[in-house]
Amino acid sequence: MLKQTDIHTVLIAGPGVMGASFAQIFAKHQYQVYLYGVSETSLEKARYLISINQKTEVEQGALTVEESAALLGRIIMTTSKDCFTKADFVLETVSENMETKHAFWKDITSVIGEEVVLATNTSGMSITEIAKAVKHPRRFAGMHWVNPPHLIPLVEVIAGEESSGEVLDTIYGIALSLGQRPVRVYKDPTGFILNRLQYAVVREAFHCVEMGYASMEDVDKVMKYGLGLRYACIGPFETIDFGGIDIFNRVGSYLFDALCNDGGVPKLLKEAYEAGKCGIKNCNGFYDYSDGKDKTALAKRDAAFIALARALYENEEN
Ligand SMILES: NC(=O)c1ccc[n+]([C@@H]2O[C@H](COP(=O)([O-])OP(=O)(O)OC[C@H]3O[C@@H](n4cnc5c(N)ncnc54)[C@H](O)[C@@H]3O)[C@@H](O)[C@H]2O)c1
Repeated sequence: MLKQTDIHTVLIAGPGVMGASFAQIFAKHQYQVYLYGVSETSLEKARYLISINQKTEVEQGALTVEESAALLGRIIMTTSKDCFTKADFVLETVSENMETKHAFWKDITSVIGEEVVLATNTSGMSITEIAKAVKHPRRFAGMHWVNPPHLIPLVEVIAGEESSGEVLDTIYGIALSLGQRPVRVYKDPTGFILNRLQYAVVREAFHCVEMGYASMEDVDKVMKYGLGLRYACIGPFETIDFGGIDIFNRVGSYLFDALCNDGGVPKLLKEAYEAGKCGIKNCNGFYDYSDGKDKTALAKRDAAFIALARALYENEEN
């Protein structure tokens, strides 16, 4: 199986929100990239997202105009499966649907070499289950990124039942080569670690709104101006150490039982989905993204992430 240093050409399958970012990240770090999509329309969307991201990165000074042009020159967008056999590493980021993922992996692993390293960016579906469609699954593992991946450093490297230690080390090494901060996740838990934490917060956020404790805008502010800033600097266990184990134990004795413990998708989330809202991608979410407000919101978010990442990580060792 190929090692990180043998990997030069990368196939990103699925030119959506995540795939468009991955293409830029790998190209920025000198990899040759094929961004593979099933339709010209999907590639067109990726071109649009990439152009917004590149403009912001140049405006923020993260890239020069020349670096941005060189990076774009290393990305080949294609709907042709000819690219399947050119890759040393395949990162699948197609729609979050087991049948779609199975169909893709069955198709590609019937034609690529056994030494090629394979990863899926599923948000939380079982790596072991996805691997059932992969020929030689020892070279396959999870590589879960956070949106927007070109600005957020975490990567979860997840072991499926059949993943070899070698493939996990290679994927971990690839993440490091891209300047990311990988962590290892064992036993393939649903949602891995990040989404288990995130969905616990999301459930409670909807609960607070549904119960009338606060508006959506104010719940977002609690996170942005309170917890979010804290958690950008220290994790939950460090927080408890700083706050006092005795305090967290005392507050926990009455608060854990008061939290929402419902199963299923929160009512407001389900209703929004059923009303055709997909968020920024169709300019229709909990907030208004019509008339170009989507572009402004994306640029504002990216500028904030860049400034924060600079402040927090620029002088920090890996
Ligand atoms: N959006 C996020 O915040 C986020 C974060 C982490 C992980 N993920 C995961 O990343 C994956 C992609 O998510 P996204 O948000 O980019 O979705 P998206 O809907 O924006 O993009 C999915 C893309 O996959 C394409 N596609 C579907 N079948 C394909 C196939 N057989 N071959 C090639 N392309 C195909 C679609 O045309 C679309 O362009 C999902 O597994 C998702 O759970 C998403």
